[in-house]
Amino acid sequence: MSLEDLEASCLQCQRCDLAKERKHVVVSRGQPSARLMVIGEAPGADEDAQGRPFVGRSGRLLDASLTEVGLDQEDDIYICNLIKCRPPGNRRPTPVELKACRPWLDRQILEVNPEVLLILGATASASLLESRTPISRLRGQWTQWKGRFVMPSFHPSYLLRNPSREPGKPRSLFIADLTQVKDALNGVVSGLTPDSSDR
Ligand code: URA
Repeated sequence: MSLEDLEASCLQCQRCDLAKERKHVVVSRGQPSARLMVIGEAPGADEDAQGRPFVGRSGRLLDASLTEVGLDQEDDIYICNLIKCRPPGNRRPTPVELKACRPWLDRQILEVNPEVLLILGATASASLLESRTPISRLRGQWTQWKGRFVMPSFHPSYLLRNPSREPGKPRSLFIADLTQVKDALNGVVSGLTPDSSDR
């Protein structure tokens, strides 16, 4: 299945009850051949209205931060979410919803075939990495997932609630994490070599 076919099928998805209330399925934005995939949690109201991920306040902060470290979201990056439809009231996705939606994300990763995954927030990190480690400890540490570099970091909505840019505060740690991602894409990563035969 090509990425185009995948996205077209995803738009018709009825695998869980979120299909009943959504305005749009929110599949992706950015570059289908990107070396970096950014994975958020779930669409919010703005994303549900527009059918594109990270287009509200969190998205503006994400875009500004990516630009700040020199990553161009239209050229270098494919952006998507763990789940493709908005949970009512922006609640956390349930295990049933996560399970129903997961094959879409797995296919997106296979088709885009990014070298690096940037995972935003506790829910997406816990689900993708099957880890109970708090995001405050996971973030900033390279890990691997199926032969790809993975950088977990804070969710931009958390940074909106914690806007200080002082050193050591979440916003500056987020920039440090994005800088590590940028360096990895430039081939400057020490101590970790993902085995691409795992992909
Ligand atoms: N938060 C997310 O996790 N994803 C979006 O697309 C928007 C807000």
